[in-house]
Amino acid sequence: MSDTEQARRLRFEIFRYNPEDENSEPHTDVFELDETPFMTLYIALNQIREKQDPGLQFDFACRSAICGSCAMMVNGRPALACRTLTSDLPEKIQLYPLPTFKLIGDLSVDTGTWFREMAEKTEAWIHERLPFDPDALEQRMSDDVAAAIYEGDRCIECGCCVASCGLANVDDTFLAGAGLNRVARFMMDPRDSRSDSEWFDVVAGDQGVFACIGMMACEDVCPKELPLLEVYAYLRRKTLGARFLAKGDKA
Ligand code: SF4
Ligand code: FES
Repeated sequence: MSDTEQARRLRFEIFRYNPEDENSEPHTDVFELDETPFMTLYIALNQIREKQDPGLQFDFACRSAICGSCAMMVNGRPALACRTLTSDLPEKIQLYPLPTFKLIGDLSVDTGTWFREMAEKTEAWIHERLPFDPDALEQRMSDDVAAAIYEGDRCIECGCCVASCGLANVDDTFLAGAGLNRVARFMMDPRDSRSDSEWFDVVAGDQGVFACIGMMACEDVCPKELPLLEVYAYLRRKTLGARFLAKGDKA
């Protein structure tokens, strides 16, 4: 925006509801403010809270797309508030909390419980192959494998992929993009002792990759641009391979 251009007047329609208050009813409140250069939704929400409504609830911590806590529905699409510029949006902006997660209040949701349950279901930690030996040398790992593991670890657990998933919206046990990405990360880790056959029930069960209905919104909305479709293809290949091997088929 140049100095001569008039600042836009932004109109925010924001979901309000406090599930802890029996007198609270779900509704939307409208707030207006003048857009400033390089304004993000995070900045706008803080201005609204500071100057118009101190009770407005939303989450944030890092302001730099790292902590994953500021995800919300922005004009119907999951996005991080701290990385969304208002200049990329129309003047009318609708903000709703992410679906599928438990609502804490207004735009604030509890993603932590979902991610913890997912981590427990998939046992998302290294299952050690060797007994602990403090004197052992470090195990070597190829650069390609290390890079692939690092790629999976870039997930910030924001929940955007889960919120955008048609299946996760009706079945909160589905692992969705974030959960399947986590499974793939451990499947490809040579330090983890679980075989592809041992992963079979997790990956091929009702909550796994074959339950995906193929809408593919997860990859479109991931703010870290994780290649989730490649992850699903990897899991399908590994799972089918494990089944053929289990039957003694060398295909
Ligand atoms: Fe967020 Fe992407 Fe991780 Fe899903 S996979 S939780 S969209 S960072
Ligand atoms: Fe941390 Fe937005 S505030 S990701």
